[in-house]
Amino acid sequence: MAAIIAHDGIGAPLSRVEGLLKVTGKARYAAEYPATGLLHGVVVNAAIARGRITRIDDSAARAVAGVVDVLTHENRLEIASADKKFQDDVAPPGSPLRPLCDAQIHYNGQPVALVVAETFEAARYAASLVELGYEQDAHNTRFEVALAEKFVPRKKRSGYYPPKNRGDARSAFEAAPVTIAGDYHKGAEHHNPMEMHASTVFFEGDGRLTVHDKTQGPQNVQAYLAGAFDLKADDVRVLNPFVGGAFGSGLRPQYNVYLAAMAALKLKRSVRVVLTRQQMFTHTHRPECLNSISLGAERDGTLTAILTDATTLTSRFENYMETVVNWGMMNYACENAEGASYIAPVDTYTPGDMRAPGAATGMTQFEMAMDELSYAVGIDPLDLRVKNYSNIDAMNGTEFTSKALREAYAQGAQAFGWDRRSPQPRSMREGKELIGWGMATGMWDAMFSKCAARATLKTDGTLEVASAMSDIGTGTYTVMTQVAADTLGLPASAITAKLGDSTLPLSPVEGGSWGAASVGAAVQLACHGVAARLAKAAAKMDGDPLEGAKLDDLLFENGTMRRRDGKGEAVPFTAAMEAAALDRIEVEKTAQPGPLDMVSLMRKSRNTHSAVFCEVRVDEELGVVRVTRVVSAIAAGRIINPKTARSQILGGVVMGIGAALHEESFLDHRLGRFMNNNYAEYHVPAHADIHDIEVIFVHEPDPEVTPLGVKGLGEIGIVGTAAAVANAIYHATGVRVRSLPVTIDKLL
Ligand code: MOS
Repeated sequence: MAAIIAHDGIGAPLSRVEGLLKVTGKARYAAEYPATGLLHGVVVNAAIARGRITRIDDSAARAVAGVVDVLTHENRLEIASADKKFQDDVAPPGSPLRPLCDAQIHYNGQPVALVVAETFEAARYAASLVELGYEQDAHNTRFEVALAEKFVPRKKRSGYYPPKNRGDARSAFEAAPVTIAGDYHKGAEHHNPMEMHASTVFFEGDGRLTVHDKTQGPQNVQAYLAGAFDLKADDVRVLNPFVGGAFGSGLRPQYNVYLAAMAALKLKRSVRVVLTRQQMFTHTHRPECLNSISLGAERDGTLTAILTDATTLTSRFENYMETVVNWGMMNYACENAEGASYIAPVDTYTPGDMRAPGAATGMTQFEMAMDELSYAVGIDPLDLRVKNYSNIDAMNGTEFTSKALREAYAQGAQAFGWDRRSPQPRSMREGKELIGWGMATGMWDAMFSKCAARATLKTDGTLEVASAMSDIGTGTYTVMTQVAADTLGLPASAITAKLGDSTLPLSPVEGGSWGAASVGAAVQLACHGVAARLAKAAAKMDGDPLEGAKLDDLLFENGTMRRRDGKGEAVPFTAAMEAAALDRIEVEKTAQPGPLDMVSLMRKSRNTHSAVFCEVRVDEELGVVRVTRVVSAIAAGRIINPKTARSQILGGVVMGIGAALHEESFLDHRLGRFMNNNYAEYHVPAHADIHDIEVIFVHEPDPEVTPLGVKGLGEIGIVGTAAAVANAIYHATGVRVRSLPVTIDKLL
């Protein structure tokens, strides 16, 4: 079969189908659902990093008018006793935090009480009156101290890939005529989506829970709550039709939903818990990382040795580990490469995935090292990359399903005007501003995850496609709509996409950049199923207008089907359904990598690539850095929607600029607490920090990588950007800063 579609199908720059709802305030977020008799919960967080609660005095809090309860470990509801009941879909190995389980304090900021009141104001005031006594144990949050305890965990989290070494990197490094070596450091970062983590839990009359949660996976939250409170999964419905950004912070259920559910179950009332911006710094974050990188090369720039040894932090109760060191080892042809990756425990909450986890750290550091090497050998940074280009995945020795990085380099350089760069640092300036041009490579995974979707065609000619997938602002609604439009030849206006509801067909969390590829494939399968049923229905019509045509012989166009060979008439979907006495056609299908895919998965690497070019202007006297121009050339397979795709990359580039210049979470080590827990002190790029960003999608047809040839775009935009900025700063100033973010103090 095939569809002819004028403007709404795959490849069309459709505006977000839910855009109007969002800009008119009609899209409702988790904290915005009204409920009769709604109670408000405010969380009290631990003020020490390690020890025990010895005393709770909630008398003053309970005396506040309107306060209904103060939940603590002393009066909490029954919860599951087994750790594994708290292990959600994306939990790393270990013992997940069980809020209010007992008196133990594992980190500063751990939720220790929930004050529940008739009004938010009463709850907030009463929360400030809860007095806690502690017995403190020694804690550590210092990286350099934790390093002494670094280790390689035996049980790896899924999605973590240990590096594979090749050749003899140490000897090659010793023998190399040109070498560079440095310790590259990346500070911790916190996800700072606009929407804070929030949950409104409706306690339904029959005891079931309807949970509006800010999450990237409603079914993940459903299973987690059912496990933690020993409920039947069917008795917990989780919805997240709109999510105000997440960047990975919504992959795991956070404590707001757990506490709201506990309070609702205990008090048999509906409860809302909204975290404050400050409390957003008491759960997940991108871990701090130290990566020692040594590179050896021939005088002509041929890489002969790669050594990379990284340690990232984790909590003391879970082993969260990112794939940090592999990227450079995969990307460059080099006969000798050795990587090592460790984690080291500190007394903080467990870090977690934040946009391009591992790559945004490790590839950034590697590309900063490549920049140093380019100056050491005296070769243009882009030429050095091209010289060491690998057509295959150099670490695994496997082919890529596609890798149009060469094209990305060329088109990015062309658009940027890279050939006009003067090679010497501090050689370009305008007035008081030093100008620097830098570039870097980006790389991310192109993943595909088992996902189901349902397509329902009604006799009024409208189609609904549905999956429990989330749209965290990435454009999933629009992608689902376009794939359906493409497959059945319907205009977008006839299609409704539904998502963000645990009762919808099975979906993974939205993450890892697998959303569009996975739910897109599922929607396509379901729509194919609808098409097949339509063709069957048409055979029941008087005179068989399609003359017995098979599905493959049919064209689907504007709500009709007709023979490709032009014989017969166009049959409206509705006429076929009427003839077969169908009031609806409903098909649910699951897309998943089949056994053959698994074989090819082992044989081939699946990745997105990017080439990022950047101009900075640095005030010579003040050290203020402005990123005035970025060109990001992306090789990410088939682009379903160039408009939403561009937005994804723009957002990634902005976040990369944040990582390069602004974002870092600082711990007060005496308290073991993240201190700059607000937008005044945790800096993210503001409008004034963002100038010209150009996004290029290079042609990269890849029918093999995923069913739709889609590779995903949520993460590749950030990777490469921070390194390009840092490298441009070196070119502008001649100051090599190996620790991100490059703040003014490091430059002067
Ligand atoms: Mo992404 S860090 O997988 O939400």
